[in-house]
Amino acid sequence: MSETLIKLAELDKSFDGPAGKVTVLKNINLEIERGELLAVIGKSGSGKSTLLSIIGLLDNATSGSYELCDTDVCSLSHYQTSILRNQNIGWVFQNFNLVPELSVLKNVELPLKYNKNVKKTDYKTIALKQLERVGLSDKQNNFPEQLSGGQQQRVAIARALVSNPDVLLCDEPTGNLDSENAAQIVDLLLTLNAAGSTVLIVTHNESLAQQCDRTIEIKDGMIV
Ligand SMILES: Nc1ncnc2c1ncn2[C@@H]1O[C@H](COP(=O)(O)OP(=O)(O)OP(=O)(O)O)[C@@H](O)[C@H]1O
Ligand SMILES: [Mg+2]
Repeated sequence: MSETLIKLAELDKSFDGPAGKVTVLKNINLEIERGELLAVIGKSGSGKSTLLSIIGLLDNATSGSYELCDTDVCSLSHYQTSILRNQNIGWVFQNFNLVPELSVLKNVELPLKYNKNVKKTDYKTIALKQLERVGLSDKQNNFPEQLSGGQQQRVAIARALVSNPDVLLCDEPTGNLDSENAAQIVDLLLTLNAAGSTVLIVTHNESLAQQCDRTIEIKDGMIV
């Protein structure tokens, strides 16, 4: 049976710019089912990353409603939002965003430190399990700069998975990769989705978008 994981209704987002208020998202209505693989496409500046930031609880909508796992996100305190974000959202960015001073293993362990329910003595086992899933347990003691771009992105995906999030949000995950590494990342995201993860991908990669269950296009801040 399907279950709605994310529900946005009549959502607007505007920013205060030097020339006044700029509306970036307009009347967004979107429901995403658990287990779905969704591509978000659209021209540069259309509002894709802004939409992902709101879904990922990094930013607030200006108006409208957002329910994540049946929780009305708008009614939560700052602290409650941070817990929901840490436990329910996995982020994958175009530029990997790994911490250069930390080993691969320590990078993957990082989100666990913000989860009071996880014991410190379990960090390594949990992180290694995710590194195995992305095929990089042999690189656990390396540092990010010693890895290829594709390998760094796989570490970032392992880190995103370590809290067992409800949804994986990927903002142009193949944008900085050559075609071979990009194809590996696409395969990995498809495999994770087949194993049950809900995955949202902002992408300019047409072949990736075509392999998703559904594609939405944003144009001038609206879903078209
Ligand atoms: N913090 C902000 N303050 C003001 N304007 C912003 C802010 N963040 C985004 N914008 C504006 O919102 C619009 C949408 O930006 P967004 O980053 O969501 O686009 P995008 O679709 O992700 O583009 P790209 O494909 O280039 O990544 C742009 O016009 C941008 O300038
Ligand atoms: Mg963007």
